[in-house]
Amino acid sequence: EKGGYDYFMLKEIAEQPKAVADTLLGRINVEGALTLDDLRIPSRVLRAADKVVIVACGTAFHAGLIAKYAIEHWTRIPCEVELASEFRYRDPILNTRTLVVAISQSGETMDTLMALRHARDQGATVLAICNTNGSTIPRESDAVLYTHAGPEVAVASTKAFLTQLVACYLVALYLGQLRGTKYGDEIRAVIRELSRVSHEVERVLETMEPVRELARSLADKKTVLFLGRHVGYPVALEGALKLKELAYMHAEGFAAGELKHGPIALIEEDVPVVVVVPSPRGRSVLHDKIVSNIQEIRARGARTIVIAEEGDEAVVPYADHLIRIPVTPTLLQPLVSTVPLQVFACELATARGNEVDQPRNLAKSVTVE
Ligand code: F6R
Repeated sequence: EKGGYDYFMLKEIAEQPKAVADTLLGRINVEGALTLDDLRIPSRVLRAADKVVIVACGTAFHAGLIAKYAIEHWTRIPCEVELASEFRYRDPILNTRTLVVAISQSGETMDTLMALRHARDQGATVLAICNTNGSTIPRESDAVLYTHAGPEVAVASTKAFLTQLVACYLVALYLGQLRGTKYGDEIRAVIRELSRVSHEVERVLETMEPVRELARSLADKKTVLFLGRHVGYPVALEGALKLKELAYMHAEGFAAGELKHGPIALIEEDVPVVVVVPSPRGRSVLHDKIVSNIQEIRARGARTIVIAEEGDEAVVPYADHLIRIPVTPTLLQPLVSTVPLQVFACELATARGNEVDQPRNLAKSVTVE
């Protein structure tokens, strides 16, 4: 049932191109516009929404953090992202014009369920992004956009995450398309780009051997740090989470701009730092900033592991290890930049002799608070 792979996690990482393609299937029409026929929320409600609030836990929360960049950019609707376990014990401000998006692979996460119940009690409309047909979270939501990752068996979420991202982009682009913003042309271009992205994920998977080798060489390290900016920041958080849960190593993700506000004190000789570099095209100021961050940490002895677009030559002099990813629109980059981090964590866990599919102390679906 592992289809020739040693672990379900490896199989599920390999299934990502298909999971991404399946999640897009039937949702883009021949004119290249999004249809989302399965989204049962009336367009009147979607047009009137004045705030989006995303609630989720763990990896799904990281998908939500990335979604915020896309939603605010393409729709100009303010978007908040909150850990479900925090949200429900605050006194969040919600009303009938709030669109709450609950993201959950299993559809059974208790904290996320409680958060959405709380939101509906306040009159908000709840859209679930979920991978499990007929599970509790979609049943209790106003509408559901299913991800089509197929069953995810390994405890560490991989293909579900990529499809959650796809679903979030679909929601953001659909809202943008529906409400009409100045980004109409960009939205059309990104929709076209989305249909190519599963192929790009495939290409990333074909070049992972050096990443595995690198991971094995770091098996005796105490700590690994992850840095990113913009959508690369949640990717850094996700890379760190994967490493904690699988390799049982200390790992932390930071926004690169925060370095000088504290984390740079952690940089010492030979500490591995993974840096997710935004595209040099588009928002090039972000790219220049992160290149100087890489210089700063390297000058303090860090071993830099740089994830950068093909053709980005500016990072080459400062990268001890360079991992190339295909060129994508800035906001879509997490679909390709996350993949090497999953492979990295999986291989490091294996090198440390850990049980990859069943990490200690963790359950696939957290149905208690
Ligand atoms: C991490 C992981 C967890 C889940 C979290 C939410 O690899 O799997 O952090 O993402 O428990 O689970 P769902 O998405 O089922 O609500």
